[in-house]
Order: sequence, then structure tokens, then C-alpha cells
Amino acid sequence: MSPTNKTSTNSVKAPPTHIAIVMDGNGRWAKSRGLPRSSGHQKGVKSVRTIVKHCAKIGVNTLTLFAFSSENMNRPSEEVGLLFKLFFTVLRNETKKLKDNNIKLDIIGDLSVFTPETQDLAENAQQQLQNNTGLNLVIAANYGGQWDITEAAKKIAAKAAKGEINPGSIDNKVFSVHTALAQYPRVDLLIRTSGEVRVSNFLLWDIAYSELYFCDTLWPDFDANSLVLAINNFHSRNRRFGERNGEK
Ligand code: IPE
Ligand code: IPE
Ligand code: MG
Repeated sequence: MSPTNKTSTNSVKAPPTHIAIVMDGNGRWAKSRGLPRSSGHQKGVKSVRTIVKHCAKIGVNTLTLFAFSSENMNRPSEEVGLLFKLFFTVLRNETKKLKDNNIKLDIIGDLSVFTPETQDLAENAQQQLQNNTGLNLVIAANYGGQWDITEAAKKIAAKAAKGEINPGSIDNKVFSVHTALAQYPRVDLLIRTSGEVRVSNFLLWDIAYSELYFCDTLWPDFDANSLVLAINNFHSRNRRFGERNGEK
């Protein structure tokens, strides 16, 4: 990073309420160093720790991290196995630290692909942390924005079939209640690292009015200073939500 980009990590005043991140670039980080992709994913976990800690420190309400997309299942089985193992290890090793830091955990996505051990670990971690009152950490694992919307549609259709919902009363609010992030504030800022300018089937419904921020930094190099740059950039935006200059 060039010195002109250097920003004090203390300069953040009011952080976005909900930040979501597509944590991309682990493979390229490793490749550029002649290391196996696994090293990139491991270093990526360190960035997760740093960013979670920093978000908790500056008072972000919700941080949603894209850990593993539904499409990532199509990678070679060796890499999928490695990512699954890493997910298991992180859940096992980090839950206590999350507890000590008053962080709540929610894992969203189709968890049926994970081993029963991992599913149990995920369930236990969420339960252990459910009474925490600090940062809401949401991990999207085997998640797809299209999957999320389809699941919501399925739930609503099932209720309609049972006569619990009148199809005519289904609106944005009713639909939102059935999506994975229903209980969280709207996503203010969506960050994607590694220079790719796409959403890759992460949050779709939820980013209708999010501010999008793309940076070239590879995820393993993304640190508190990178986050501050993203937040400062967010603060420079004029959010209008279709209105005039944000006037009410
Ligand atoms: C992001 O890094 C992590 C996951 C998708 C699980 P990548 O593995 O996509 O790294 P690049 O994009 O190939 O560099
Ligand atoms: C998106 O990154 C998924 C995660 C970061 C978890 P990908 O590397 O899978 O996305 P594409 O393939 O570049 O679109
Ligand atoms: Mg990638």
C-alpha cells in the first residue's frame, strides 16, 4: 500500500451499522508467493480475526462475511475438503475467543453439505454465543444469494399452501422476514477485495441500497487500515435511496 493511502485507524467516528465482505484473493496471494492455496486460506483466517476484532472495537453492529459460496463446491475436491476442514478448525478454536469478546455468531447457508460433526459444532457455537450483546458476526458458508431468495420463496409458498399467508399480502417486508439476514439491520456497505468487480452470488436481496466498495487488496493483506479506508470512502458517499439528496 502506498504511504498516501495510510490512514490512522483511530479516525473512524460512526461506522456503518452493517458491513458485508466478499473475502476474495486467498489463492492469488498464495500463488504470488509460490505457496500452496492452503497457505492463502490460512492467512485469510488471520485477516478474519483482525477485521472481526476491529469491527467489534469500533462498534459495528453486524459484520457478514462470505466464507464459502455455493459455487465454491464446484472447485476440486481437494480444495473443498481443505476449506471444510478449515471451517471446522476455526469453529472449534475460535468460539471461546468470540465469547470472551461478547460477539454473537450466526452461520447462514445450506449447512447440509458439512459433516455432522461440523454441523454440531456450528450449532453449539451459535448457542454458546447467543446471549452475547456485542458485534453480530454472520458467516455465510455454502451460501448463495439465489439460494437465500429461493429458500424464502419456499417458506412463503408453504405458509400460503397452509393458509397462513394470503398471497395477495406478500410484499417486500413479508419477503424480507423469510430471508437469512431478516433479523439484522440493512447492509450499509458491501466490500469486495482482490480487484474483482462482481457480487458472485453473495447477498442479492440485501444489497438493494448498499454502498459497494471494491479494492485491489487481496484478502490475506486486508487489515484494519484497509477497513478504515473502506469506511472513510463509505462516509464520503451521498446516500439518496431514490429520494432527493437524502431529504426526508
Ligand atoms: C477466496 O479466495 C476464498 C474462497 C473463495 C473460499 P479464493 O480462493 O477465491 O482466491 P482467488 O480468488 O483464487 O485468488
Ligand atoms: C466469492 O469468491 C466467494 C467467496 C469469497 C467466499 P470467488 O472467488 O468464489 O468468486 P469468483 O469465482 O471470482 O466469481
Ligand atoms: Mg476468488
